[in-house]
Amino acid sequence: MSRDLFTYQNNELYFADAKLSDIPAIKNYQEPVLVYQKSLISERITWVKSWTKLKQLHFAMKSNYHPEILKLFKDAGCGLDVVSLGEIKHGLECGFKPSDFIFSGVAKTIPEIEFAIDNQIFQINVESPAELRRISDIASKKNKKVSVGLRVNPLIETPTHPYISTALKDSKFGIDLEAVPECLDIIKKNPLVEFKCLSFHIGSQILDPLVFKESVEKMKTYFLDLKKQFSTLTRFDVGGGLGIDYKSHDLIADFDRWNNLKAAYDESLKNFDADILSELGRFIVARSAVFICQVQYIKNKNMLVLDLGMNNNMRPSLYQAHHHFYNLKKNSSNQVNYSLVGPICESSDVFHRSFPLFETKEMDLLVMADCGAYVRSMASNYNLKNIAQEIFI
Ligand SMILES: Cc1ncc(COP(=O)(O)O)c(C=O)c1O
Repeated sequence: MSRDLFTYQNNELYFADAKLSDIPAIKNYQEPVLVYQKSLISERITWVKSWTKLKQLHFAMKSNYHPEILKLFKDAGCGLDVVSLGEIKHGLECGFKPSDFIFSGVAKTIPEIEFAIDNQIFQINVESPAELRRISDIASKKNKKVSVGLRVNPLIETPTHPYISTALKDSKFGIDLEAVPECLDIIKKNPLVEFKCLSFHIGSQILDPLVFKESVEKMKTYFLDLKKQFSTLTRFDVGGGLGIDYKSHDLIADFDRWNNLKAAYDESLKNFDADILSELGRFIVARSAVFICQVQYIKNKNMLVLDLGMNNNMRPSLYQAHHHFYNLKKNSSNQVNYSLVGPICESSDVFHRSFPLFETKEMDLLVMADCGAYVRSMASNYNLKNIAQEIFI
């Protein structure tokens, strides 16, 4: 059984159950526009929240920080995983409470740590002994308690792009296992620093549940050892990282992918007593948006020059990410291999060197799939191009 996110009916493209060409911003197309279906996110929040072992989902805000999207997570009772003071303040403005935040990131500044401690956020995920020393000093100066998680690097080979792998040797992320004892000494010396959590995040866009299983099993043993010394240690943060298949849009396969991960976790965490936290981002929001764009020119016979570029979706130029394209209207049954390039003055502003589309003319509208994660949140107005408008259906 399959459930395709994109279908053609009478040669018109439907995104879930929405006929895209009926949307006013598309009917009267002016410039690239990002179109969201919130129900696709709510459905996945329900999938994740139905995992009985999960204590809390802290959505990785870096993947998408639109207030309407954050509201879905807030209304479902989720927390947030944030990586800057900017993200904390934005989350607070969107109605989240300090007790909702896990604060990750390798370069937390003094003002950021002060804000986190003053507001007594849920947990700071520490990424180095030097950062922990700074946190401990600030807590002492303020005479305020701080809850910390140690984000360790479990050293797991992850089958993903090296730019989104975070558990390699010499990674800038997480604390090397050899450096953990130094952190434990700092914690033991300061009763204001409460060691609450063992955290790990091995990378993003990982499809194989066995990789997550391997990291959980490694860290579980480590957690149980640490727990003998620290009774405060009750939380086990498994990070995010589950990916989607950008080359297929079968929603049943996504559901199966989630269930397979859940089963792998459940098997590894049998009889394991800890509050399990998750920091998923991409898997929940990636499918929820499409970019609509227009072919401005056709060059060299089969090069489609689009008005949408790397400033609005930098994933392909940053790490060769694949985004599928569809014709908004199917005007021919002939398929042609096109290259798809953006308008930005960079040679890397290329989405595809060869991608099959139905025969396409200048000014035709195209639809780029799976733009809900790490697309708008990474956008810039480089070349003083507009950051695209976002609309919800
Ligand atoms: C610490 C941390 N947690 C969670 C995430 C979310 O990852 P993903 O969107 O792949 O689930 C990231 C992203 O890289 C991260 O760095």
